[in-house]
Amino acid sequence: MKQLGILLSGRGSNFEAIARNVEAGKIPARIAIVISNREDAPGLARAKEMGLKAVYLSSKGKERETYDSEVVAVLRAHQVDLVCLAGFMRVLSPYFVRAFPQRILNIHPALLPAFPGLNAQKQALEYGVKFTGCTVHLVDEGVDTGPIVCQAVVPVLDDDTVETLSDRILKEEHRIYSDAICLMLEDCIRIEGRRAVLVQPPSGGRSFHPEP
Ligand code: GRF
Repeated sequence: MKQLGILLSGRGSNFEAIARNVEAGKIPARIAIVISNREDAPGLARAKEMGLKAVYLSSKGKERETYDSEVVAVLRAHQVDLVCLAGFMRVLSPYFVRAFPQRILNIHPALLPAFPGLNAQKQALEYGVKFTGCTVHLVDEGVDTGPIVCQAVVPVLDDDTVETLSDRILKEEHRIYSDAICLMLEDCIRIEGRRAVLVQPPSGGRSFHPEP
């Protein structure tokens, strides 16, 4: 059984969606460890409530590489195969990225390469795009720059606020993050330069589409 490591800093709704799909047997893995860099992250408390191994690792006063080497050590101690960033509000050092080559996923609430960085939904709204969405990508040494595994498109409505748009994007985030995890775990994609190319469909014809 493959082992997932989840890193989060806040609400943890993406983590919860992943955890529910793991519990339902839709993701062929177990969550070995949840790590938060924030002691008060609701996602950390939720992970504990769900009976998962979940730890707070403080980054206070630590150099980026020192902190990252602690996180990497915990992930390795739990024999993690795939690292999932789920609202983890830190940029990973090259040391971290090289410790899990092409084995770290991130979710971003925009159609990359549009609107990288913080407040992506607000950026999209202010720019005036008619469509935005979300992206699951492999983490490389840049910020929101790695090869794209899955994307979903969300229309921007004239009366959208940052909140209403974010809510609709989040529903798609919850769906495509699990899709991307399955593709990675089952070695369904091959990385060719910047492109993540599908080499075989995931087994079982899984679908994470919400019920109508
Ligand atoms: C999501 O919008 C995700 O795309 C971004 O941070 C947010 C995390 O939300 N990286 P949650 O903590 O998973 O609810």
